Amino acid sequence: MNYLSSGKSLIKKLLPKKWVSACGEFLYRQLPKKQDSLFFLLARVWYTILGDKLNARKMRILGIARPYSMVGRNGLVVTYDLAESLEQKQIQGAFVECGVARGGCSAIMALINAHHKSDRITWLFDSFEGLPKPTAEDEFNPAEFTPPGDRHSSDVQEGCCLGTYEEVSALMFSKLKFATDRVRLVRGWFQSTLHREKNNIGKIAFLRIDGDWYESTKCCLENLYDALAPDGYVYIDDYNSCIGCKKAADEFMQKRGIQAKLISDRRGGAYFLKSS
Ligand SMILES: C[S@@+](CC[C@H](N)C(=O)[O-])C[C@H]1O[C@@H](n2cnc3c(N)ncnc32)[C@H](O)[C@@H]1O
Repeated sequence: MNYLSSGKSLIKKLLPKKWVSACGEFLYRQLPKKQDSLFFLLARVWYTILGDKLNARKMRILGIARPYSMVGRNGLVVTYDLAESLEQKQIQGAFVECGVARGGCSAIMALINAHHKSDRITWLFDSFEGLPKPTAEDEFNPAEFTPPGDRHSSDVQEGCCLGTYEEVSALMFSKLKFATDRVRLVRGWFQSTLHREKNNIGKIAFLRIDGDWYESTKCCLENLYDALAPDGYVYIDDYNSCIGCKKAADEFMQKRGIQAKLISDRRGGAYFLKSS
């Protein structure tokens, strides 16, 4: 037995798996946000040494996605965990992201899909022109709503959060080498693309809504919620950070009598499971 493997089995004996993950989680929360990529790399090496393949894969995928996403580490981790759990539970249906920007979260969803060799398609919807203008519904009124996040209409401009079609194509098809029939990029405003494509998408297992505004969120829910499979997830990235987004989601859930419990992603978004 060489030094490496005896060291590895010693660590494993001394530290049960749960503790290793808890220590990793603790250290991860202490690192400054800008160090995410470094953290994912170190954590990947650590898990590889311990032979924890699942977590090593998670850190590899998060490390790939981080430079292309604006959602921050908790958002990436929650996106990963939800997509992975849908694969583990073999929930049928597509993965859909509405609001792709430079493609970080979408890359996570497509990489998990590819790892499991499932036959689902990852659909990516965006204007690829950045955010549209907010509407009156997005106006921030501190007396009405204090977002735990830090964004609202007055400090986010039209055209903000831009990722271009060319950038995202390069990431998906040149860098990550997905087949064009596994990852579909749909360019245009949700208001015209979702209605047109919803029959082509079919069942949805994971609906990730990241369009910031009232009209964008409303449009995604109205067009795509009915296609969500039982036990599928809806993840609303701006639920706790953009007033219009929250309003659209609350109105939709009330109108449809959806009782699901929204779970915070601890950064400004929330998700829920469609009960079976
Ligand atoms: C905050 S960014 C998305 C961040 C991304 N999910 C990530 O991982 O970094 C919001 C995106 O939503 C898109 N968007 C918002 N409303 C839209 C609409 N009505 N139609 C099309 N795209 C929209 C914007 O173009 C922008 O790329």
